[in-house]
Amino acid sequence: MQKRKKAGQQSDRRPRERVRVLITGGRIQRRIQALAMEIRKDFPGEPLHLVSVLKGGVFFLTDLARNIPGEVSFDFIAVSSYGQKTRSSGQVRLTRDLDSSIEGKTVIVVEDILDTGMTLQYLLRLFEQRKPKHLRVAVLLDKPERRIAAVRADYVGFSIPNEFVVGYGLDYAERYRNLPYVGVLLLGRGLKEKPAED
Ligand code: IMP
Ligand code: MG
Repeated sequence: MQKRKKAGQQSDRRPRERVRVLITGGRIQRRIQALAMEIRKDFPGEPLHLVSVLKGGVFFLTDLARNIPGEVSFDFIAVSSYGQKTRSSGQVRLTRDLDSSIEGKTVIVVEDILDTGMTLQYLLRLFEQRKPKHLRVAVLLDKPERRIAAVRADYVGFSIPNEFVVGYGLDYAERYRNLPYVGVLLLGRGLKEKPAED
């Protein structure tokens, strides 16, 4: 006889998940305010053009843009990697280009996380060809242990250990992006940490 599930019992198909807070929303906001001032100090009086990568970088971009005094515009690009397993092969593909030219502009690429660096390496090569006046990189999170490509960010929110994180734009199968904080994803019955290389 088949066992019936009690109301409210979790489905067996989705493994149990929990998120352990790593960086609170308050700390994120305070760090972004400081980064915004640092960026403005480096380019006083210049119009800044923020370019973010959909979808993970959107929360960081909007909070950063609101905290930079003076003239700021922004645009979006989308890329896809050929599956997580092949990301290290460098197969990044452009799926949505920018709306406007970046020629002669002071461009800040805004990303949620710098992991292997393959995505940013691809984007920086692409943008350099388009002759911006300046090209800088701002990332909310940096996982230096995972780096494959020689990419360095000019502005880093937080350096974090090699753990799979979600929240504040970062997802696990498109979920958790809306969390106002960043947390480590714990998976399964024993709620083990999800290996970052999965
Ligand atoms: P990279 O090309 O390996 O540097 O990867 C960058 C992209 O991988 C990020 O923009 C994220 O979309 C994704 N990513 C890397 N690490 C994590 C993580 O810990 N959680 C969620 N997404 C991640
Ligand atoms: Mg991303």
